[in-house]
Amino acid sequence: MRVVSGIQPTGNLHLGNYLGAIRNWVRMQDQIPEDGQCLFFLADLHAISMPHSPDELRRATLEMTAALVACGIDPARSVLFNQAQVPAHAELQWLLGGTARMGWLNRMTQWKDKAGKNREGQSVALFTYPVLQAADVLLYQATHVPVGDDQKQHLELARDIAQKFNNDFASEEAPVFTLPEPITPPDAARIMSLRDGSKKMSKSDPSEMSRIELADDADTIMQKIKKAKTDPEPLPSEVAGLESRPEALNLVTIYGALSGENPDAVLSRFGGQGFGAFKPALGELLVETLAPISARFRDLLEDHEALDAILARGAARAREIGVPTLDATYRALGLVR
Ligand code: TRP
Repeated sequence: MRVVSGIQPTGNLHLGNYLGAIRNWVRMQDQIPEDGQCLFFLADLHAISMPHSPDELRRATLEMTAALVACGIDPARSVLFNQAQVPAHAELQWLLGGTARMGWLNRMTQWKDKAGKNREGQSVALFTYPVLQAADVLLYQATHVPVGDDQKQHLELARDIAQKFNNDFASEEAPVFTLPEPITPPDAARIMSLRDGSKKMSKSDPSEMSRIELADDADTIMQKIKKAKTDPEPLPSEVAGLESRPEALNLVTIYGALSGENPDAVLSRFGGQGFGAFKPALGELLVETLAPISARFRDLLEDHEALDAILARGAARAREIGVPTLDATYRALGLVR
């Protein structure tokens, strides 16, 4: 079992990032069998497919590294690195470029969404983004790739590329690539804005009150929960009663994601009570969960040397692991080196 997954570096890391992708990675790491391996990386090469600021990218890469470690990714057990320090990602992407088809890429919904009506004005990198993503996982013979629902199509494409490459350039007995299996966590919580229950919690929301950030201290967390938008009704005793109450549903979802309960179990305890009782309980649970994470996060953010060392070590490991597959790919294509 080899688990490989990537995340784009962003700043302003928040509760949605933690309860979405990051916590799920930590669980994978903690559950992987002895003979398995997890590789987790910052998709910094993917980040240049959209207009970006180099200074911000550098800062976000270190910030995301700090967050992953603070949340429990252990660089001694998992291989943690950034793509830019492992040239084989970019190399393999080019080598797969002969196999990937324009038509396949044209059908990618992320491409269509991000490009909108202005395809001609997009970077080539935005179009070939999924080929780099395929290289990311195929390079390491990934068997399992934890991703959100929005990335499943890219994983399907990685399988198509691997399959076609194996067909065209390898024998059935000795395929070059393993077909990776996407795993979408059943309970990846979708955390919404604290100000508007119909919008996802987001780093780019202008209001800081809309999100709990990983660096927030206890007072800030309590304040943000106290001020979170709700409605005047008491909580119902079953989740069905929250149907047209997105803000209330969001707070109950957050509570359940932290306590390990489903929303019905949370409501069986809080049903009938108002937010005056529920919010302090939620705030305390958040503080309890996030306090050790944010303390570690803030320490690491100031220790650039430690972060650089973690990434350098992870990248060295990743470069080693990728060698046999990259060599086999060049060889299969008839490229003389
Ligand atoms: N595209 C992914 C996202 O935006 C990040 C990513 C890059 C990734 N390469 C990957 C995820 C390889 C899984 C495997 O979320």
